[in-house]
Amino acid sequence: MTPGARVAAAIDILDDHLSGTPAEQALTGWARKHRFAGSRDRAAIRDHVFDALRRLQSSAGLGGGKNGRAIMIGLLRGFGIDPSTLFTGEGHAPAVLTDWEQVSGDGLSRASRLDCPAWLLPQFDESLGDQSDDVLEALRHRAPVFLRVNIARISRQQAQKLLTEDGIDTRPHSLAPTALEVLKNPRKINGSRAFLDGLVELQDAASQAVVEALQIAPGMRVLDYCAGGGGKALALAALGAEVVAHDISPARMKDIPTRAERAGCKIQIATPDRLARFGTFDLVFADAPCSGSGSWRRAPQGKWLMTPERLSDLLDVQQSVLSQLPARTTADGAIAYATCSVLRVENRVQVDRFIENHSEYGIEVEHSFSPLDGGDGFYVAQLRRM
Ligand SMILES: C[S@@+](CC[C@H](N)C(=O)[O-])C[C@H]1O[C@@H](n2cnc3c(N)ncnc32)[C@H](O)[C@@H]1O
Repeated sequence: MTPGARVAAAIDILDDHLSGTPAEQALTGWARKHRFAGSRDRAAIRDHVFDALRRLQSSAGLGGGKNGRAIMIGLLRGFGIDPSTLFTGEGHAPAVLTDWEQVSGDGLSRASRLDCPAWLLPQFDESLGDQSDDVLEALRHRAPVFLRVNIARISRQQAQKLLTEDGIDTRPHSLAPTALEVLKNPRKINGSRAFLDGLVELQDAASQAVVEALQIAPGMRVLDYCAGGGGKALALAALGAEVVAHDISPARMKDIPTRAERAGCKIQIATPDRLARFGTFDLVFADAPCSGSGSWRRAPQGKWLMTPERLSDLLDVQQSVLSQLPARTTADGAIAYATCSVLRVENRVQVDRFIENHSEYGIEVEHSFSPLDGGDGFYVAQLRRM
């Protein structure tokens, strides 16, 4: 496909998404109807779509409209590319720019320029102070790809060597001793020997740093209370913890046994109705549902789907999850709370509210990771009865 045809495809997919189809589904639907498109074309089109979703508001402003065509015009302008070089009308490229499209693009407000929903901007400012603009700017860019080295089985250096043999260049990242940043050929990871043998997993570097912050000692009994797909459960197990994974939606944990087997570790699965049978734990960890504001580079749709009502509902769920943790710990056990959000209301404010109602608890570990550190934005606090 020509570069123009790829832009035309991205326009169709964006229009489908903007009419209500989830982005991944819109991409798959398009690929099914256009089987001639090769993997390089699909990857390039996907990049266009996700770039546009990260920069939806500024692109709509610069393109002068909220449909796929205007957004792609604005996206190209935002990247400093003259859209008329791709909107040629030739072959399968989009039709040439109209007179109006050539001059469209208004002056952008601060919220639009930073691609932040206007209602959320005060929350960012309150949470991040003078780093607010830089963090929001970072969230407008593609996320780096990180691997977690399964140090139970291989050193970071050995993993790097093995990956190089498969054409994947990496470098150690300072956020976590297990983290490698992928510099070349990220699309080869799933077929690489290191991945297939369970020696590396795809995991954001700050997500790894969160697990590192929990100071796991081998043999510790840990309950991952909101395990989801098991990214952090696997990292906990690799540090030698005896991990039980739990989630209110057990279906989300369906891949954990296969992932654990590949990694050469054991993770027990506890559905909510069976959790009591697993007794109490040295550490009960909740990677709580959140706005995802720290990882909007990876899942940009979340930014535009968030509303004040949804955020308020999430805050209630987070406090409810926190309040369920103490019952699962041993008398001298700890609880830990994490989010992939940079918003104070979801982080320290929640922990303070919990302590107001459970005054026997105090914070013993607390870290905030900013997208400016290289990985996603994350927060983690570990609390213990004092
Ligand atoms: C941020 S995700 C977890 C991601 C996972 N820890 C990982 O690293 O891959 C949050 C998870 O919390 C679960 N959840 C939501 N409410 C819950 C509750 N009340 N109790 C337990 N899990 C809950 C969701 O189903 C979701 O899978």
